[in-house]
Amino acid sequence: MSYLLGIDVSTTATKALVIDERGSVVAIASDEYEFFTPRPLWAEQNPADWWRACVKVIRRVLEKIPAREIAGIGLTGQMHGLVLLDAEGNVLRPCIMWNDQRTAKQCAEITDQVGGTKNLLRMIGNPVLPGFTAPKILWVRENEPQVYARAAHVLLPKDYLRYKLTGAYATEVSDASGTALLDVAQRNWSDELLKAIEIPRAWLPDVFESSVVSAKISADAANETGLLEGTPVVGGGGDQAAQAVGTGIVQEGIVSATLGTSGVVFASSDSYRLEPNGLLHAFCHAVPNKWHLMGVMLSAAGSFRWFRDALGEQEKREARDAKEQRDENKDVYEILTEKAARANAGCEGLIFLPYLTGERTPHPDPHARGAFFGITLRHRKEHFARAVLEGVAYGLRDSLELMRALGLNISQVRASGGGARSELWRQILANVFNSEIALVNWNPESGFRTEGAAFGAALLAGVGAGVYANVEDACARTIHVTDLATQGKDVQVYDDYYQVYRALYPALQTQFERLGALAT
Ligand code: XUL
Repeated sequence: MSYLLGIDVSTTATKALVIDERGSVVAIASDEYEFFTPRPLWAEQNPADWWRACVKVIRRVLEKIPAREIAGIGLTGQMHGLVLLDAEGNVLRPCIMWNDQRTAKQCAEITDQVGGTKNLLRMIGNPVLPGFTAPKILWVRENEPQVYARAAHVLLPKDYLRYKLTGAYATEVSDASGTALLDVAQRNWSDELLKAIEIPRAWLPDVFESSVVSAKISADAANETGLLEGTPVVGGGGDQAAQAVGTGIVQEGIVSATLGTSGVVFASSDSYRLEPNGLLHAFCHAVPNKWHLMGVMLSAAGSFRWFRDALGEQEKREARDAKEQRDENKDVYEILTEKAARANAGCEGLIFLPYLTGERTPHPDPHARGAFFGITLRHRKEHFARAVLEGVAYGLRDSLELMRALGLNISQVRASGGGARSELWRQILANVFNSEIALVNWNPESGFRTEGAAFGAALLAGVGAGVYANVEDACARTIHVTDLATQGKDVQVYDDYYQVYRALYPALQTQFERLGALAT
């Protein structure tokens, strides 16, 4: 039996996960760290913290599975971060992370330098957003010239771990897509854009496909981690692409909807497709010759968490009482969801806009705000709770509609993330999307068995190591649908409400901006 190791350098922790060929998880370890906000809108992390955590979690999983039985390693992690190194490979400044918002000015500069968004879409398939890597390089050039003068290498977070593990400067197509420097159609760096914004191509790592071997564990790293020198490390993937591989989103028609703090709709595409206004991210998939389209909403399960914290005191008490009196382990979310289930579809005309932290898809607008619309004397807590679940579903449908408009025929949506544990929410998604909602590798008692980017990275490692024929084969052998919600009688009700929901953002857009100016 060969084993495969996936390593995920996420925003909150580095995680190592070992699977066997059938996809059973045999060892798992995680080590947390923080990120820093030295100024409003900034988000930074120390690459040294990732590496320390990485060594720790590798050592921990190797206590269960001997290093010689690890056939391959796959890396994944938070996308878009800028790790800047000097010629000797020393880190020059903390990583500027994906959620850092300091670069609005540099995004505008890049867009100007290439002659507008249309040209950007032609060169890199996407507009430049503040979270992406390229504007961060320009920010360093403008604000920290002494750091910039010493720069020699640009890496993404997971690729910094690859450098530490193997000594190689390398990346792969899915994560590189989020730098705003990759010609996504050609799956290689865009010389045209690099020239226009004067970033030396020599600073950028070699670009591999996600499932091929990019480098091997070095003697130094073997010493430090306990891994075997020469163990192959495949390209891996950005966290979203790797998570998609881990839920089997590798063929056209099967789409994922992730209900984490943020919400992501991810579709695999057999050809290079572009949303004409750049509203969906158009990135390379971690599957050779495939691409993906992605919509990101900023507050999905995060909206329901906000509701729990702002308005769920009573339910928190009920959860505590249930635990003390009946020894029942019901959590606040379950109690709130039970209440939500008492309201009818459409909440008697109450609609929630989930823009609590601004929005990315389909309204790239930091000024957008949340709202409850349509309140009457009849509305009670249960209506508000359900309206939040429905509003998030409408927001995700916005991304699905953009995908459908590009000709993607969506036959199944696979739900994942903490919010997908709720049966009611899955049923609402089925009706709002007018599509079946599947769960994969899910067990109602123990939760998701294999969810997460590290699992997808381990599958990619299996392809590179020759355990699986290709990524599709890896998914077919390890990922199974275990629960299915089908659309029912409320499809039409939701379709009518969705039309109202869609009209609300354009009606409120200018007022959001005015409100923001008053509230600061
Ligand atoms: C993807 C994105 C996030 C980060 C952090 O575009 O911004 O998924 O990768 O998880």
